[in-house]
Amino acid sequence: MSRATDRVPTSGVKRIGVLTGGGDCPGLNAVIRAVVKDAIYFGIEVFGIEDGFLGLIEDRVRPLTNDLVSNILIQGGTILGSSNKANPQAYPVGVDSEGKPIFKDLTDVCMTHIEIHGLEAIVCIGGDGTMSAAKPFADRGINCIGVPKTIDNDLWGSDITFGFQTAVGVATEALDRVHTTAASHHRVMVVEVMGRNAGWIALHAGVASGSDVILIPEIPFDLDMVCQTCIARSQRGKRFSIICCSEGAVPRGGEQIIERIDPTSPDPIRLGGIGKWLSNQIEDRTEIESRYVVLGHVQRGGTPCAGDRVLATLFGHHAMKLLRMGKRNRLVVMQGGELTDVEITAAADKQRLVPVDHPLIQAARGVSTCFGDSGGDSMCIPAR
Ligand code: F6P
Repeated sequence: MSRATDRVPTSGVKRIGVLTGGGDCPGLNAVIRAVVKDAIYFGIEVFGIEDGFLGLIEDRVRPLTNDLVSNILIQGGTILGSSNKANPQAYPVGVDSEGKPIFKDLTDVCMTHIEIHGLEAIVCIGGDGTMSAAKPFADRGINCIGVPKTIDNDLWGSDITFGFQTAVGVATEALDRVHTTAASHHRVMVVEVMGRNAGWIALHAGVASGSDVILIPEIPFDLDMVCQTCIARSQRGKRFSIICCSEGAVPRGGEQIIERIDPTSPDPIRLGGIGKWLSNQIEDRTEIESRYVVLGHVQRGGTPCAGDRVLATLFGHHAMKLLRMGKRNRLVVMQGGELTDVEITAAADKQRLVPVDHPLIQAARGVSTCFGDSGGDSMCIPAR
């Protein structure tokens, strides 16, 4: 039986590996499933590498079969496990006398394991850290095909990444839920959402939930303006306010709040704490009782929504198509609604931030949403 829509033959590749690196995200299993099913159909053996590049360092590599990927489409997380600390080029092997991590280049160790298992190519599902970690292997002749993932939706070069729509759904539901309790108790509720330096999750969930204030890293906010918006709502009889706040949001003239620094991670900064700070500031300044909720990893866990299952399947299938066509060291991306590919490290060290004139920001301002800036000044405190 041939596949009418996809007759791209194999380029001679016989055995490949697949790994998931970096922070997890809903849809990873859907990609793994698409990769394994496609490979097996075309007679290519697939080996799962456990815990990202850590599995290559420690030689934890196992064959994947159709049975093993059956029923994983709807599962959150990743059946292969992941690690966001395992960069073989700079792997933390201990600490020095001052407690600073000592890093070692373990690329050769990984290459030995790649050769033992006869892997000719690796499908690397991860963020830009994973793609950068793949580069030394690409340079040594292993074809690395990247599939980008992130709930943050900040991958440079792709209009959308899988995981994002699920995270927005979770955040929207949480905002809807705090809405009713905020109304009952006449409170300000601040919901802190993930996204690092990009405000995509806050913007989409904020608009979807009809939040009164949306704070994103790309638009530093004026605290007075946010407080005034809450007061003005109270005065109009709307005795509660909902604030959707990105973890990377920053008060004008201030700095992002860092929750922790992990020196062994290639991306050591973890943001968090702005929700609590903001809630306290609002209560002190307005005397309106305020509470905060930090959604955290709830946004990354659980079953992917339908849109992410579809997107992840498309991305996984396209990765295999590239591989079968003999394309080398490419990253799958979505541009203008079309699947295409760029060089595997093209997105490294870049971020796709929210443009401050994005149509969704304009639409939100149009329904009187406050972004805490003068750009929406006229609409922040409606006269009615
Ligand atoms: O990049 C995805 C993300 O969930 C960010 O939104 C968040 O800032 C970060 O990862 C959290 O990382 P960790 O899982 O290491 O705490």
